[in-house]
Amino acid sequence: MDVCRTIAALRQARAHYDQSGLVPTMGFLHEGHLSLVRQARAECDGVIVSIFVNPTQFGPGEDFARYPRNLERDLTLLQQAGVDLVFVPDGHEIYPAGFASSVEVGGVTEMLEGNARPGHFRGVTTVVCKLFHIVQPHRAYFGQKDAQQTIVVGKMVRDLNMPVEIVVCPTVREPDGLALSSRNAYLSSAERMAATVLYRALTTARQRFAAGAHTGNALRAAMREILDAEPLARIDYVSAADPETLREVDAIGEHGVLLSMAVRIGTTRLIDNMLLQHET
Ligand code: PAJ
Repeated sequence: MDVCRTIAALRQARAHYDQSGLVPTMGFLHEGHLSLVRQARAECDGVIVSIFVNPTQFGPGEDFARYPRNLERDLTLLQQAGVDLVFVPDGHEIYPAGFASSVEVGGVTEMLEGNARPGHFRGVTTVVCKLFHIVQPHRAYFGQKDAQQTIVVGKMVRDLNMPVEIVVCPTVREPDGLALSSRNAYLSSAERMAATVLYRALTTARQRFAAGAHTGNALRAAMREILDAEPLARIDYVSAADPETLREVDAIGEHGVLLSMAVRIGTTRLIDNMLLQHET
């Protein structure tokens, strides 16, 4: 496994592979990341993983400085997973002095995470666009865990004709339903127990949907009811939206509905989502 720290070294090593798959990450890897790596390994000739804690997607007062990092452990996990190349640039390699450009996707960036974290998606699309240009992968792998991110990146690729196929992989969860996230490392043991409330809220709404609650209002109320009952949880937003436009829905149409939420457990902000479809 090659570890490249510069764009020049990455480009040289990348040239050995024909069909390549890129898995962009911010490191502190867990089974969620590794599931993307395994899917890329099954489908591509060369598997490239980037590890870069991207400063431009963190807002002022967010957790950029304390975001968990453990490069040595990450590299061991990636080696075990059969990765060919790891790209670990430093901040100056990606954003040299005088860097002044950005990629901004409209519409689907306005709500949910985009509304709660102004500038977040500009940071994501700018770095992902740069990674696509640097690596030139045939496919790039993203997790459903960050549902809006997959929609925003997909829109950027279509709108700007980027020659890469976006592959979305299912959310990996702990046995009790908590979605794996590098940020789970911030939780105390009491908070870790409380954090199952996100999945409980989603599954409660799924049950109500199966029992005939087919309106956005009923599903948002079901999620709020469960979240409100957890003293350690504070709701940032709860949403039942059209899975393509991300606009809040009332009547649920043929595309189904994307349930999503951001919830603070103590000082840790967690997100989760679930896509519900009508039975056919
Ligand atoms: P990061 O949070 O490290 O996540 C990297 C990828 O792993 C994302 O596509 C994310 O959706 C996926 N992922 C995280 N947890 C997952 C889980 N439990 N199940 C399945 N997939 C999961 O997302 C980012 O980094 C950054 O925004 C990035 C795209 C790298 C741009 O900086």
